[in-house]
Amino acid sequence: MTDKNNLSPVERIKTNSNGLRGTLKESLLDDFTGAIREDDQTLIKFHGMYQQDDRDRREERVSKKLEWLYSYMIRLRLPGGFLTSEQWAGLHEIAENHSTGVIKITTRQTIQLHGILKSHVKPTIRDFNLQHLDSIAACGDVNRNVTCTSNPSESPLHQEIYELAGKISEMCLPKTKSYYDLWIDDELAIDRKTEEDPLYQDRYLPRKLKIGIAIPPNNDVDVFINDIALIAIIENDKIVGYNIAVGGGLGATHGNDATYARLASLLGFVDTEEKVLKAVYEIITVQRDFGNRSDRKLSRLKYTIDKLGIEGYRSEVEKRCGFTFEPAREFKFEQRKDRYGWVQNHEGKWFYTVFVEHGRILDIDGYPLKSGLLKIAETGNVNFRFTCNQNLILSDILEKDKAEIENLLKEHGISTYTDEVSALRKNSVACVALNTCSLALAEGQRYLPVLVTKIEPVLEKYGLQNEDITIRMTGCPNGCGRSPNAEIGLVGTAYGKYNLHIGGDRLGMRLNTKFKENIGEEEILETLDELFGIYSEGRHSEETFGDFSYRYLQTIK
Ligand code: HEM
Ligand code: SF4
Repeated sequence: MTDKNNLSPVERIKTNSNGLRGTLKESLLDDFTGAIREDDQTLIKFHGMYQQDDRDRREERVSKKLEWLYSYMIRLRLPGGFLTSEQWAGLHEIAENHSTGVIKITTRQTIQLHGILKSHVKPTIRDFNLQHLDSIAACGDVNRNVTCTSNPSESPLHQEIYELAGKISEMCLPKTKSYYDLWIDDELAIDRKTEEDPLYQDRYLPRKLKIGIAIPPNNDVDVFINDIALIAIIENDKIVGYNIAVGGGLGATHGNDATYARLASLLGFVDTEEKVLKAVYEIITVQRDFGNRSDRKLSRLKYTIDKLGIEGYRSEVEKRCGFTFEPAREFKFEQRKDRYGWVQNHEGKWFYTVFVEHGRILDIDGYPLKSGLLKIAETGNVNFRFTCNQNLILSDILEKDKAEIENLLKEHGISTYTDEVSALRKNSVACVALNTCSLALAEGQRYLPVLVTKIEPVLEKYGLQNEDITIRMTGCPNGCGRSPNAEIGLVGTAYGKYNLHIGGDRLGMRLNTKFKENIGEEEILETLDELFGIYSEGRHSEETFGDFSYRYLQTIK
């Protein structure tokens, strides 16, 4: 499947990179530009960063004969999405000192900061390091941030999968020490022998790889969108093993029918943690060896699965593992949304889930969310956990400390806001898109809040305002906001235009289908008005909008 004489240019950059160093040192020292050299733009991703520019200011900059306003996005590696209150306070300060100030919770349970100028990149990473945080492998052709069911109040088993997420993340870290060499300590003497990398070798993976772990009945991680999906199988309140599914991935390219969104397919069941780790490792080596390295649009693990067939992929993994998979076991997901507000866990500790619209933590007029969270962190009595729905859980609060946190939440309008926003808004996800994402064709997180405000009265008209309908928007078909896996998906095609997808299920087990192409706001609202009307009249009892639209799509075929 890979033509060795026709490797994509990124393959050369990786293998010639001297352990992902490239000429990053020289690029950083070059004061004449805010950008870095072209090859280094590929390599910097493996260190958790993207070079970006402010797309809103391109015209102005060009008219002044200035180069684009370049800056960097840095994403943390936070398996399972957890920070202590000290780390949150540290992050708050780092965001103030080096970035736009907005702390952004991502759809993969981590945090990223935007707008970091080249001269601030190294100081930012050094400051992260002081907080025991890193951004290694948060982007690039490697395993990315490992996600896991986020709400510890869901089950006493959470700690076990949170630890597994950490172990997988460690196991899949690149062995090169270039991160420390480049960003932390220039003088570090590195024994290159310790950099030999049996997993990634010098080629790394053909493309990015994502791993998620879910504890049924909660699928808040949207586990089937991952290249490798682990589903904990619970018997008598104990994890007895994991179903492993492979080949999820939501990205596609407009106009390229060879590309598609796909949910992971079940490979089988393994019982011990040792076997899970081995299986994950070998699933990755098979993708490393068989994945497409010629065409990056066809290089995700999902395409390798569809080339080898699930049986073929399984037998290659089993051969490398030295054991076989058992047939997948029964499991059932019952919900995917976050549990907003207060919940108490099995140990009597309290958890408060804050609704954060599209994960953007900042102070705005009348809603000082960011300042409020800093005050809460300063009590030292909470931990911060992030969900794949871009929300925040203030966690592990003792009974004696609850009132203090409750007061701070009220004082800063946080609990009132979380209580009052509509069901649709609470179930909305959007990707970053404009102004920083170079791939965005349309708005994402800046526009979905506005559109939701316009959809809310339409739902009310049909008495549907309390329905937990999932709506997700992405500025392009790459699917970072998981738009293909929503009941209503909006996928940017051009500025102000979207493809409207419907028919996905509420639990993340069935992708949606394109219903209308390239439409603007007016037509989106008209179409939804019509669909909500038919839904309110013709739904079966308890039928979700997603299931109804799926049924509706079959009738109009
Ligand atoms: C070809 C496929 C993809 C490409 C080229 C791509 C590229 C990008 C880029 C450039 C950004 C940075 C946006 C910014 O910060 O300004 C981004 C953000 C992000 N992407 Fe992707 N992406 C792809 C698919 C996906 C998929 C399928 C997922 C997960 C379902 C995903 C998860 C994320 C996350 C979590 C962020 C962080 C921001 C957020 O939460 O919106 N990406 N991606
Ligand atoms: S979905 Fe597209 S527009 Fe949105 S962040 Fe991902 S790459 Fe950018």
